[in-house]
Parts: sequence; structure tokens; C-alpha cells
Amino acid sequence: MCGIVGVLGNHEAAPILVEALKRLEYRGYDSAGIATVNKGTLARRRALGKLVNLSDLLVHDPLPGKSGIGHTRWATHGVPSVSNAHPHRAGSVAVVHNGIIENYRELRAELAGIGLEFQTETDTETVALLTQHYLEQGLSPVAAANQTLDRLQGAFALAFLFDGEEDLMIAARRGSPLAIGHGDGEMFVGSDAIALAPLTDRITYLEEGDRVVLSRTSFEIRDAQGALANRAMKTIQIDVTQVDKAGHKHFMAKEIAEQPTVIAEAIRHYLPVGEDAVHLPGAGIDFSQIDRLTMVACGTAYYACLTAKYWFEQIARIPVEVDVASEFRYREPPIPGKTAALFVSQSGETADTLAALRYCEGKADKILSVANVAESSIARESDLALPIHAGVEIGVASTKAFTCQLSVLLMLALKAATDRSEITAEDLQAHISALRGLPNVLAAALEQNDNIRQTAQKLSEARDVLFLGRGLMFPLALEGALKLKEISYIHAEAYASGELKHGPIALIDKQMPVVVFAPKDRLFDKSVSNMQEVMARKGKVVLISDAPGLKEGGEGTWETIDAAGAR
Ligand code: M6R
Repeated sequence: MCGIVGVLGNHEAAPILVEALKRLEYRGYDSAGIATVNKGTLARRRALGKLVNLSDLLVHDPLPGKSGIGHTRWATHGVPSVSNAHPHRAGSVAVVHNGIIENYRELRAELAGIGLEFQTETDTETVALLTQHYLEQGLSPVAAANQTLDRLQGAFALAFLFDGEEDLMIAARRGSPLAIGHGDGEMFVGSDAIALAPLTDRITYLEEGDRVVLSRTSFEIRDAQGALANRAMKTIQIDVTQVDKAGHKHFMAKEIAEQPTVIAEAIRHYLPVGEDAVHLPGAGIDFSQIDRLTMVACGTAYYACLTAKYWFEQIARIPVEVDVASEFRYREPPIPGKTAALFVSQSGETADTLAALRYCEGKADKILSVANVAESSIARESDLALPIHAGVEIGVASTKAFTCQLSVLLMLALKAATDRSEITAEDLQAHISALRGLPNVLAAALEQNDNIRQTAQKLSEARDVLFLGRGLMFPLALEGALKLKEISYIHAEAYASGELKHGPIALIDKQMPVVVFAPKDRLFDKSVSNMQEVMARKGKVVLISDAPGLKEGGEGTWETIDAAGAR
């Protein structure tokens, strides 16, 4: 995911931009660049790879100026290269962009038709060229940017900077979030408030379709219809230490370690001390009035939904449908009466999930969200927003947000079971005390770090890894495979253990580690049978279980991990 920053400031912009881009590093990137206007002249510097390469370049080839835009690029159109890196420039305009211009091919053809040449393979360059084309026709920068924005299809956030204009920046949001930061006689733009955290705590979030014209002392927002729009300025509290690795090697390690604390926080908000029932914020929801639940999300958040489906169905006896947001939104499914639609997202800004939520507006009886970023579009646009209290998640690979999502979803399922009179007081109390004990269980699991590291080292030599699970463990197996792919680039697939014999078993040989999630529960014996099938083909089983499970099923396995105790 690309990152955007912009500054109309009173100090040199380049170091401010680079520092702000560092705070967006968590989104992942392959190149970076900045542009400034100095004494009326627009110039840019771009570098491939880490931000340190851009910083080094700026040491040798400084870029003065107090107005600037910056970008970290994650290649979508065109390979990672200096020429494909942002800002993109055409004549008097420089542009940074997050998202995708879906009609860039038509625009490219049109621009080529009038003799314009492309220097890059990106969709973004069409934005710069089109704007320059309108400038050459005599339009002002604001009119040229507006005319360009009217022509664009897709989901994007954009910031424009112009030659000769040191007190002007134009920004727009459609599908990708963008925030304005208000300083004293300074103005900032950022993909999120984290980028702007040390610069200002006064933030205005642009809404869908908004365009803003900024100077150092003023800003004017117009909505998608072109009408002047009043968007609230919020004083936000982002603890800048949250954007610090706190002694950990990387953010993901920090966030894994934070789980006992943040889960305790999430549980405290829904199960206040001394209470024996789940409390939802605001007006809540009465699940006795709901016949059906539709859950929609992407990636890890989707796997959290798949897990929660078991809880809503088994504990609350409510029928649940779970869908990937990018499929749901284009499938346009019918939403029968008495349906609650629930959207799960860490960022609260994922375009497909947001589009799916908007599809359900006016169709579902109630729109709920489980999001981490409380000010996000998904949280703001739902009838009932259920925050997960995970704190800022910087690591691209979702970790603590996933476990906090699961905790909140389980509490919501308990609330549903209570509303629908599907749970006895004893069973509810058993779940509540298990939830309250969760931080300690997680802390014990984290003490397994050294053991887990040894297993990970062995797995790191594999080319392909299979993950298996039954029941609740199946979505966890899916999430495990996603994490392994994302973090190690090792090919990994997950299957419901019962599916092993229906095809994937053909892949098993002595090269193939098979990670099996199997606690000692009612499905354990079936999982043991699956492990036997794997071992009979010389597959290497890594069994992740609890102490009784390891005792009973650990024999003959390659590696074992006790998820809540000793190895
Ligand atoms: O912010 P969201 O939860 O909506 O993001 C959805 C997915 O992109 C996300 O969960 C992704 O799969 C994880 N970061 C992977 O670790």
C-alpha cells in the first residue's frame, strides 16, 4: 500500500517529508520520492528501495523548499524502478498517488493520440500528463486538477504540487483514505494520522469524493458534488511511542508481544470488571430481532469472520454467511429482511470492504463493524461500531488485530446467544471466565518463543508447506498459511483436514511439512487419523496442540508446539 505525505510549511520540507514517510514504512514499499517547490521551481528526487537510499540521495543532491509532497510506492503498474517511483511529473505539475486509476489505458491512448509521450509504465503518470494538458489549455492549477479528477475512474488518494505555486496544494480522496493536518501557519496532508503524528494532533479526515485546496493558512473542501463541505477537525491522540519498535527487532514482533495487553483491554471494554454479561457501546443491537448474519471482510479479517461463523452458529444458533468483500460487492447478493451485516477490518479503510458495506446500506436491518481504527470510514459509516482496542498496528502482517478481532467477535456471539436465549447462565459464565483468562493464556503461549523459533528455522528450509485444521482450527490454518506466505515467501496452502483425502494428499512426501492445528477436543481423533495419513507418506507433521493433545498425538511427529504450555 503506497503512502502519501504533503507539507506547506515554514521549515525545509525534505527532512519533514522523509521523516513522515518513515512513519508510513509499515505499509510496505519498494521505492520512494519527494518533490518540492523552491523559489517557484518544482523539482523532485526519487530512489529505489529503502528510504535510506532517498535520504542518501538528498545528502548529495539536496532539495530545498518549504512546500513538498512525498510518497512511498508499492508497485502495481510497472516494475519497481526510479522512473516508476512517485512523484510523477509532467511540465509544471507533480503528483503522488495511492490506489489505482482504472481507466488509465483509455486515458493513455487519448494522451498518446494528442502526441504526449510517457516516461513510465504507471497509471499515475496519466494524472500528471492530463493535468499538464489542461494547464496548457490555460486552466488554473485548481481548475486543471478538478478537470483531471473528473476524468478519473478507480479508487485513489492524490496530492498535486505546482511549479510557481509555493502556497498551494490540491488533494483528493476517492476510495483511499487521506487526512489533513492543521499546524500553526502550516498545513499537512497524509495517508493517515500516524504519518502526521509528531507534526500536529489536529486532523480533518477527508470523506469519500472530497477534494481540498490547501494553503498554509486556509483550506477549502468540496464534496463529490462540488459543494463546499464542512468536515470536522478532530484532536486525535496518537501516542508517538506506538510508532516506535520499543526495543523489538521489528513492528510485527512488537505487536505479537503486545497481545496479552491489548486483548485484556478489548475484553475490559465489553466485559467490565464485576459484570457478568457482554456490554456493547451505544444503542447496541438486539439479536432476537435478527434472523441472519452476513459477515464480509478481506484477508486476515476474513479469516476472523470464518472463525466467528462457528461461534455465531454453535453458540447463538444464528445462520451466518461469510464472504470475501471483493466477491460480495460485485456479486450483489440479495439481503433478506432481518439481516445484520457485519464488516471486519483492521484499518477500516479497505476499499472492497467499504464498498460492500455501502452496498448493504438501506438493505440490511443493521450495519455493524469491527474495526481497529475508530475514525475510519468503515467505523463511521456503520450503525454500530465495535472497536477492537488493539492500538496502532504498524506491521503489514496483521497479528494483534486478528486476535483482538476474534475476542470482540466471540463477545458479540455471546451477546447474540444471550439475546436469543440460546445459552444457559452457566455456559455464559464459563465463556466469560475463559475470555478473562485469555491474556494469561496468550502470555504463556508467548513464552514458547524459543521453541517456536526452532520449529520456524526448520520450516524455513521448506519450499511448500501445508496447513490443516478441523472446525474452528480450519480458519486458523488458513490464517497460518497466509502469514507464512506473506512473511517468508514460502508457498503455503491450507485445507480443512477432512479435505486431505480429496486431492491434496497427492502432494505429501518427505519434503512436505504439514502443520496441523489440533487441540484435544471432540474432533481430535479425526485429526490424528489425518496425521497418520500424512506420516504414512513420510510427510513431516508439525503438531500445534495443547498438553493432552501432544501427549496423545505427538508420537511420530516431526515437531510439536504446545500453544499454551511447555514443549
Ligand atoms: O485493514 P483490513 O483488515 O481491512 O485489511 C484486510 C487485509 O488486507 C488484511 O487483513 C491482510 O490480509 C493482512 N494484513 C495480512 O496479514
